[in-house]
Amino acid sequence: MLKLPGLIDPHVHLREPGATHKEDFDSGTSAALAGGFTTVLAMPNTKPPIFDLETLDIALNAAKQKARCDYGQYVGAGPDNADWGNNKSLPLRVAGLKMYLDSTFGELRLDDMTLWQPHFENWPKNISIVAHSESRTMAAAILFAAIYDRSVHIAHISLKEEVLLIKAAKERGIKVTCEVCPHHLFLNNEDLPPPNPPPNSTNLGEGKGGGRKEVRPRLATKEDVNALWQNMDVIDCFATDHAPHTIEEKDSDNPPPGFPGLETALPLLLNAVSESRLTIPDLIAKMYTNPKKMFNLPDQPETWVEVDEGAVYEIKAANQFTRCNWTPFEGWKVKGKVRKVVLRGVTAFEDGKILVEQGFGRDVRR
Ligand code: DOR
Ligand code: ZN
Repeated sequence: MLKLPGLIDPHVHLREPGATHKEDFDSGTSAALAGGFTTVLAMPNTKPPIFDLETLDIALNAAKQKARCDYGQYVGAGPDNADWGNNKSLPLRVAGLKMYLDSTFGELRLDDMTLWQPHFENWPKNISIVAHSESRTMAAAILFAAIYDRSVHIAHISLKEEVLLIKAAKERGIKVTCEVCPHHLFLNNEDLPPPNPPPNSTNLGEGKGGGRKEVRPRLATKEDVNALWQNMDVIDCFATDHAPHTIEEKDSDNPPPGFPGLETALPLLLNAVSESRLTIPDLIAKMYTNPKKMFNLPDQPETWVEVDEGAVYEIKAANQFTRCNWTPFEGWKVKGKVRKVVLRGVTAFEDGKILVEQGFGRDVRR
């Protein structure tokens, strides 16, 4: 039995408020515990989006009542909420500021660089800015970090050009960190043809794609995937970007982008360890030590995850706690299974069962 620290996922979409048919703080944090995570940081592209004190309270109240593991909530950067002067306490209550610089699910995109400026200027330097930025937008975000002499965390990098530019920026002392998602390490753009195109559907996604392969950033080429693996030392942390949408939505004519990931990340990464593509110290650094430091997260005393390193099993959506009812890794055989999760001295998950109540989870900023 392998013992790991309680893992941290700095990037999840728990869909509350507004789309609790996809997920909520209850189902999402149950999925987290089943996946070996004891802390999750929730993104603000909800309905309504979280972008001021009032909407933050809506999300944090729901989380307080329903979360089964510890959590933090991001606030979103909007076109006119960069002046926190009257709300100095708000940055202290959130996991960080999320800036959507490229288009994706939700309406929080900041198109114009004049809208980025006040956020980089005003947001407290000791609290994270996380950027959804791809390719050249990512280069621009790194330039902003250099100009304003502050850190920026680049979410879900997926391209060779991205990892190489981040490497070069780090070598020159620019304060940039980055995360990579399991789906960008284990899938490429030739995977996931449409398994069940709905009858008479006109949607085949992009080319042979289909709705199930839609995700932002998109699945990349094999060369990109190889570059991520080859530059593992540049990557600060793993993040799932757990983005549940129901199977009906994914198979519809207008499929939203996103994959669930909380319950498959650790098994996939442990499987990579079993194939000597990764080491356990790598895994602990990228799923615990680094994110804890980068997001300034509190200690969780008497907290650990027990993993059966030798257990081989098949990933099945039917066994998951996420409400979305599908996984892009259906049927994959993996080696390494989460047996037990202990959070603050209490067994929270054991042998497939969640054992703590809703409301057991704590706000990391409380
Ligand atoms: O594929 C994605 N889905 N990428 C994102 O950036 C957002 C996410 C979502 O919220 O569904
Ligand atoms: Zn996301």
